[in-house]
Amino acid sequence: MPRKISVHVLPALFEPSDLAGGIAVVTDVLRATTTIAYALKNGARGIIPCKTIDEAVALRETGNASGKILLGGERGGEPISGFDLGNSPSEWSSEAVADRDVAFTTTNGTRALLRSVLADRVLTGAFANFGAVCDLLLTDSRPIHIVCAGTVGEVSTEDCLFAGAVVDRLASGDSSEGGAAVEELELCDAAQLVLSHWKSAADSPDGLFRAMKAGSGGRNLMRLGLEADIRTAATLDQVDLIPEYLPQSRRISPAN
Ligand code: MLT
Repeated sequence: MPRKISVHVLPALFEPSDLAGGIAVVTDVLRATTTIAYALKNGARGIIPCKTIDEAVALRETGNASGKILLGGERGGEPISGFDLGNSPSEWSSEAVADRDVAFTTTNGTRALLRSVLADRVLTGAFANFGAVCDLLLTDSRPIHIVCAGTVGEVSTEDCLFAGAVVDRLASGDSSEGGAAVEELELCDAAQLVLSHWKSAADSPDGLFRAMKAGSGGRNLMRLGLEADIRTAATLDQVDLIPEYLPQSRRISPAN
C-alpha cells in the first residue's frame, strides 16, 4: 500500500482531527522551527509553545531547580517587550538556554503546532535539521502530514520549499549518500506543487537562500536587518536532532 504524504500549505486548510493516526511535521522555517532546532541543540530542556503572550507570561514564575521559565518569541518578527529572547536562532545560545525551559510564542509557528496536536506524533522541522527529520520519517510507516505555518494566513514560500525538499528526499532518497527512499508514495496535489517549487529553487547556486529572501517573511526580516537569520535558516543539516511535542508535558524536546 502506498504511503500517503499530505502537505497542508496553511494551518486553516485542515481540521485538527484530519491528522489523527499520522505523523505531523510542523514547519515555520522563518524562523520558529529553525530557532527551536538550535535551542534544543544548545541544550534547552524544553520549549513550551504558547498561543498568546499572556499565556507565556503566566508561566514565567513557574520553573524547576535550574530557574524560572524563560520567555521567548516575537510579534511581527520583533522581540516582545519584557521577554528574555526574541526569535533569532543566534540569541538562543547555550549560555542563554542550556538546561532551561522556555515558554515560546510566535505569530505563526507556535499556532500551527498547537493546531497539529491530534497527530500521533508532532515533530518540528526546518532546513537546519532536514536530514534528521527525513531519516525519522523513513523509519516510520504512518501517513505523513507536513504542516506549513504560513505568514498570517498567507502561504509562505520558505515553508513550501521545506515541504518540497522533504517530499523530494522521501521520494528519491539521498543519492549522494546512497540513502533509502519510500518505496511507494501517494502525493496529494499540494505535495506535487511544493516538489516542483523546491526543484526550481534547488536548481541554482544559492537558490534556496535567494528564494527565501524573496518571500514575504524574508522581506520582512530584511526590513528588520535580520538577513543573517535567513542565511541560518537556509543552511542545511546543522542540527542532528528532531524536536517533538509531547502533550503530557506540553513541551517540545528532542525525540528519542
Ligand atoms: C512566526 O512564527 O511567525 C515566525 O517565526 C515569525 C518570525 O520570523 O519571527
